[in-house]
Formats: sequence, structure tokens, C-alpha cells
Amino acid sequence: VCGIVGYTGHQQALDVVVDGLRRLEYRGYDSAGVAIVADGALASAKRAGKLANLEKALDGEPLPTANTGLGHTRWATHGAPTNQNAHPHLDESGRVAVIHNGIIENFARLRTELERSGVRFTSETDTEVVAHLLAAEVAAGSELAEAMRTVCGRLDGAFTLVAVHADVPDRVVAARRNSPLVVGLGDGENFLASDVSAFIAHTRDALEVGEEQIVAITPDEVTVTDFAGGAVEGRRFHVDWDASAAEKDGYDYFMLKEIAEQPKAVSNTLLGRVGADGLLSMDEMRLSDEELREVDKVVVIACGTAYHAGMVTKYAIEHWTRIPCEVELASEFRYRDPVVDRQTLVVAVSQSGETMDTLMALRYAREQGAKVLAICNTNGSTIPRESDAVLYTYAGPEVAVASTKAFLTQLIACYLVGLYLGQVRGTKWGDEIRSVVRDLSDLPSKVDQVLETMEPVRALARALASSTSVLFLGRHVGYPVALEGALKLKELAYMHAEGFAAGELKHGPIALIEDGVPVIIVVPSPKGRSVLHDKIVSNIQEIRARGARTIVVAEEGDEDVVPYADHVVRVPECPVLLQPVMSTVPLQVFACEMASARGFDVDQPRNLAKSVTVE
Ligand code: F6R
Repeated sequence: VCGIVGYTGHQQALDVVVDGLRRLEYRGYDSAGVAIVADGALASAKRAGKLANLEKALDGEPLPTANTGLGHTRWATHGAPTNQNAHPHLDESGRVAVIHNGIIENFARLRTELERSGVRFTSETDTEVVAHLLAAEVAAGSELAEAMRTVCGRLDGAFTLVAVHADVPDRVVAARRNSPLVVGLGDGENFLASDVSAFIAHTRDALEVGEEQIVAITPDEVTVTDFAGGAVEGRRFHVDWDASAAEKDGYDYFMLKEIAEQPKAVSNTLLGRVGADGLLSMDEMRLSDEELREVDKVVVIACGTAYHAGMVTKYAIEHWTRIPCEVELASEFRYRDPVVDRQTLVVAVSQSGETMDTLMALRYAREQGAKVLAICNTNGSTIPRESDAVLYTYAGPEVAVASTKAFLTQLIACYLVGLYLGQVRGTKWGDEIRSVVRDLSDLPSKVDQVLETMEPVRALARALASSTSVLFLGRHVGYPVALEGALKLKELAYMHAEGFAAGELKHGPIALIEDGVPVIIVVPSPKGRSVLHDKIVSNIQEIRARGARTIVVAEEGDEDVVPYADHVVRVPECPVLLQPVMSTVPLQVFACEMASARGFDVDQPRNLAKSVTVE
């Protein structure tokens, strides 16, 4: 939530900052603002709404040239998305500018205190208190980083704060507690940002900033200290994708591009994880075989789409390892006194690696003694850093707010974890593992096949664009796919959409079926688990008899569904557990096309942000 950029160096700060904000806009688009330090003074501009509004304002009233600046794109927490509440916030003298991601929980008390001492506030935000407090510290003689340290000591809550001061034209200072911040290391220039995409066009060398740390950058120096003022050595890392990975590349939307990138993302996530003997080799995971053999329960924690990947994992892990596996929404986990101990393996799934609900859940799990394995797409992010072990997904940067390629790679990583547990514990044997590994390696080309046949799905979405509701049904691993299809449609097309376990329909939701209601049914493979298949074919008949318009996602060659389907969407044959990797794709395409047909912003749906760093 909220995108943050800070810059000092030899380039025009405003250009670098605005370009960075463009790349971070997926983190929030309620308002945008910038401040630069020019000729011993601050100049600032901010506008409610998307970055384009700010850019238009800057075209009309350009800011002076400067080499130091900061910028912010906001996902509103305290205060409506207005010009006034947009960041940066300045103190009364206009000498300090601050931007913030997170929530300052004790801001009301601090505000009252400041108001009593005569400070006049111009916004409703929690952030503005920091501008006034910083200004007071600097006025009392503190250097900016020291002032930031003192102010942070007074703040409760989670925050990344970045500040500039008119008196120090080549310095940007930041603080971090439970909110993301990375440093980009350039040549004669340095960057601060919520994530690396903001500065990847300028440098691929980065530095992680840990919890409760203060960073000060000048064009030639980066200094990191803890909240007590002690020097800290950050971990340097190299970003292995380049700026073009975060460009639209001729696609109308990032989401379309990211859907198309899925075969590659899946194959990249499998790369290097299979040894010459065809078995899994996962030394990078940092959990010893002993530790994995001791595990007597797996708990997957995640949010939203990542949670749906977790649901699929449960089927795979229990089937392959016979270890009980629970899946829990991260936001619920720590509030219900869950049973986790030293023998529990907690798997935290997160694309961004910054989701606060997941982070809090993993901290709680570790406090209870559990080992935490992160499945994450973002190097240098908080969740892998705080976990005992990590398995990275290699989806590359996901810019569209709705998750697509990250989901498919999360599925792959989850399968790898399940299979590896089976391999280490001996519940799966050599040839069985080799056979699943082969099936996994076939997935990229099968996803490609699905993508090649999506035109009828797009046409169907356009034809159904005026529907008021779409229902999704699935069984077994098709159930989380149904939930994921419904989530995509809700978030992108703002349409009522619900996913159900097909067998549960008769226990209530079937009352929703009336003439013409579109129902998308994800049908499991007819092979292997044919009872499951036959049951869902009966479910299709039941809803068709009540007037539903049935759209069936079924394997090539599954003729049983044809008599009851108004539309059939084909996916290639594959083992039932792996089917979500393919059957999710038409549902992504459907939601994307539906949103576009209804005239909505596919990449930046209303009210959402990509990385949700508040609880
Ligand atoms: C939906 C979506 C969200 C995220 C969720 C978790 O399309 O993207 O539901 O999956 O906010 O985010 P991460 O994976 O970054 O923890």
C-alpha cells in the first residue's frame, strides 16, 4: 500500500521520482505528490486521483529543477483521497516534506499535543504529525537522520517514512518499521523506494533495509543505522530482471501481458529445482532433511489469491505426504489461538512479500516455535527475510493489481514443497516423483495451448458483460479455482461473483440459480477420480434444469459434459492435482475481458492496491 520514491544524484530529481511513481502506481492510486529541494527551499505539488492528474498539474505549473526529491502514490487510510490529504506533507514553515506508507496509531494523541502547542494542521492524515515533529527536532539543532530517529521513537504503528529538508539539498532520510523500504545503489546517485521497480531503470544493485532502521542517502553515500543510532550493515542484492520486464510491451494492459507470460513464469519457477536423477533438489530452501522429517503438520497462511494457491496445496500435500495440512487466511490465523508448535511447518505464500496480514501471522507462528517457509516472488522483501526458509517463485515483476502469473507460480512452488516433503520423508518414491516432475515440466506448453484458444472465452465475456452475477463451481482442486475465478471477476469487473464447492450448492446457494444466470463450472479430469467427475456432471445437470447458462471448463476429450454445457472451454489433459495451473487461465482471461468490456481500468481496479501493508 502506497508507493514511495526518494532520489538524490546527478539527474533531474522530478523526472526520476515521477518515473518511479509511474512504476509504483499499482501500490495505490488515490492521489500522488512530489517535493523537491531547490535553491534552499522546497517545492511541492500533489493531486487527488491517479498520477496522470499530478503530471498534468506539473505540466501547467512546472517545479524548478533540482537533484533531490521524493514522491508518493497513495492508498488512503486516514483521510479521504483529496488534494489536501495527498502526500507529501510539509511542516508550517515549509522546510520539511514527509511521505509515509503505513499507519501511525498514536497520531491523534500527537496531533492534540501539537495543536495545543499552537501548530496548525492542514490535512486529516496521520502523516502530518511527522512533518511537524521532524521540523521541531531540526529546529532544535538535530541533523535530519537524528531527528528522524527521535521522532520514530515517539510513533506507534507501522511506517515507512521518507523526508527531505530545505537546508540539506543533497540528502534524503528514511525510516522503516513493518513497512517496505529498499535502497537503490547508483553511481553518483542513490534511491529509496517501496520496491525495486521504482529504480530498476537506473540501477539493479539494491540494499535491503531491516526492521527499525534509518537510512540516509546522499549522491555518494548510504548510511544505515538502527533506531538506537548504531551502525548497521544492510544486505546487498542484485535484481535479476530489467526495466523492460515492467513495461507493457505493446499489450493494452499489464494484466494481458502477465497472463501471456505464464508459461515462461511456470518454467522459470521449475528451473534448477530438478537434479540429473529426475528427483527434486532444493538445497536453496535452507531447511534440513531432519527438520522436514520432524514435521507433523503443515499450515499454509496467505491472503486473497495466494490463499487460493494455499488451498490447492492442501490437496497436494496431504495426498503426497500424508501429513495433515491446514490452510488459513493469514488475517485470521493469529487471532484464534491456533495449535502450532516446533513440529509445525508454516508455509507463508505471498507474491509481494510485504502483506502485513501474512507477515504478522508468520511472526506469530515463529513465536510459537514453528518453522516458517516463505513462498515469495520478491527478493529483498520482508516475508522471506523473516522466515526460516524461502522458495522463490520466478514470475518476474507483477504490475497489474490482480494477480495472475504470480498465482500460477505459487501453485508450482506449493507442488514442489509437497513433493519435496514426500521425497525427503519417503512417502513418495523415485519413479513416482520423476513422473510428477515430468507432469510439472509439461505444464508450460499446456498453458501455452490454453492461451492459444482463448478467443471464444473473450467473446463470451463480452456477450455476458451486462450480467449482474456470475457463479463459479468446482470440486476438489477445482474448488479453489472457482474461488479464484470469482475473486478475479469481483475485483476487475465489479460484478457479483461467488465460487462454491459444487457439492455444497444444494445446501443453499442453488436458490441463486434462475433463468440465464451464467455459471462457470470447473470440471475435474474424467480419469483417475471419475467419481468426482461424475458427481460434478450431475451438479451441472441440476443447475441447467433450473435455467442456468452453463459454461464448462473441461479436459480435451471429456464428452460427458457436452450435453449439459451451453459453452465448453477446453484445457489439455493432465493429472487432477495439477489441473488448476491450466483451468485458472480461462477464468483470468474471462475476468480481464469482462472488465475491459464494462469500461473499467483492468490494471488498477478501484479501491485496491497491490501490496497491502496494513492489517
Ligand atoms: C488478487 C490479489 C490479492 C493478493 C493478496 C495477497 O488478485 O492479487 O488477493 O493475492 O493481497 O498478496 P501477496 O501475495 O502479495 O501477499
